[in-house]
Amino acid sequence: MVVAIVGNPKPMSRTRAAAELMAEKLTGSAPSAVVDVVDLGAGLLGWGDPAVAEAKRTVLEADALIVASPTFKATYTGLLKLFLDQFGQGELGQKTTFPLMLGGSMAHYLAPELTLRPVLVEIGASCPAPSLYLVDSDYETAPALDEWVTIAKKFL
Ligand SMILES: Cc1cc2nc3c(=O)[nH]c(=O)nc-3n(C[C@H](O)[C@H](O)[C@H](O)COP(=O)(O)O)c2cc1C
Repeated sequence: MVVAIVGNPKPMSRTRAAAELMAEKLTGSAPSAVVDVVDLGAGLLGWGDPAVAEAKRTVLEADALIVASPTFKATYTGLLKLFLDQFGQGELGQKTTFPLMLGGSMAHYLAPELTLRPVLVEIGASCPAPSLYLVDSDYETAPALDEWVTIAKKFL
């Protein structure tokens, strides 16, 4: 059961589609759930919001996670950080997690490894595969995706 978390202020984005494609290539089926963080709205600005709590439950019950963000200013989005801040240190309990970022060019291809992975590890993710970065204009056909899947499948 793979759950995708998508931290794009734009709903139903290419970032979301890329996360869904990643799940399909990894497991042969769509993610069992997608948390499109933007849907949680102002509930992310405090603690104890019921919809945020439900989204957290979905994440905590997953066998594995895909955590996806567009690149904004060389890092993941503030929106995604608001959701990740809802988790305590280590709360993911070493859940297998695959970081994914899309960007407008290859300029920030190390951003998922250098910026997203550390915060995921802080909340208890185990990230056994290299983090993946795709350019938004060709995320569906990029050879890097299939190459990455070959590696990442070993960890599921
Ligand atoms: C505020 C903002 C900042 C951005 N900063 C970067 C950046 O630093 N590096 C980059 O490669 N792309 C940057 N982009 C481009 C987005 O990463 C890109 O359009 C996005 O990944 C496309 O995914 P989407 O279709 O899911 O929104 C930025 C876009 C916006 C709106």
